[in-house]
Amino acid sequence: MNNKKQVKGLNKEHWSKNVPGLEQGKTESPEINKDFFKNVDRYRVANEPYVVPLIKELSGSKGRVLEVGCGLGADLRNFAERGMSAVGLDLSFDNVRLTKSGFNYCGLTGSMVNSDAENLPFKDNCFDAYYSFGVLHHTPDTSKAVDEAYRVLKNGGKCTIMLYHKGYAYLYINLRFGFKRLFISEEKLISEHYDFTPLSKMFSRKDATPLFKKFKKIDFEVTTFAYGGVDVNSKLKWLHRLLGNKFLMNRLGQFLVIKAEK
Ligand SMILES: C[S@@+](CC[C@H](N)C(=O)[O-])C[C@H]1O[C@@H](n2cnc3c(N)ncnc32)[C@H](O)[C@@H]1O
Repeated sequence: MNNKKQVKGLNKEHWSKNVPGLEQGKTESPEINKDFFKNVDRYRVANEPYVVPLIKELSGSKGRVLEVGCGLGADLRNFAERGMSAVGLDLSFDNVRLTKSGFNYCGLTGSMVNSDAENLPFKDNCFDAYYSFGVLHHTPDTSKAVDEAYRVLKNGGKCTIMLYHKGYAYLYINLRFGFKRLFISEEKLISEHYDFTPLSKMFSRKDATPLFKKFKKIDFEVTTFAYGGVDVNSKLKWLHRLLGNKFLMNRLGQFLVIKAEK
């Protein structure tokens, strides 16, 4: 799909309808209330525990953090609870609204903006930290979004960005689709058969390195859904157990976490 504007329109619609964590937050009451957000936040750390050290590490800088693609705001609330001045941004207006009400229900302060990772509505050098988990592989120009992260960070500011990792995709695609994969483009396979989104991309360390060339320091970490995550084919549970092994996880894990310093 080439038209960036069209992809972003589809993305907005898709992520407003498929908000990660929404189902898990549900309570007996049909209302969205404080208990709903408490469930969302509990589920987040229980099912995706690898986000916790990432958030803790960035919170060490105290100061002002920008989360791009905050979804329902579980990680943003975690930053705010750790004393960071939290700013959330999302392409979906509905998600921004939900994150705002989550902050209100939980008695936290923060600000939320409905905008685009590729054109951040902030001046240069104004954040101590930038965090984006599972977002920038869905935007058409990931490189532009990373440049924007660099621009808004202060000198010495840190960013942590998770992108889908290519090694896992190849393994998954090979196991699931066999020879059929040879007749379908990688982007189509990933978007239409892996996570069912308008656009998803995968990155190896080699693909990601040039995106971060302006940063003075860059480190990679690979992690995976340790507890069999939401979009994991249950037939592949054994694979997830296997990926607990550090050597294999580094090569075949699901998430590529890039930590960089301006
Ligand atoms: C897979 S969800 C991840 C949400 C959250 N970070 C999490 O880990 O649960 C992707 C989120 O990124 C948002 N998003 C997608 N493209 C974006 C863009 N170009 N700019 C800002 N947000 C975007 C979507 O609206 C959605 O809320």
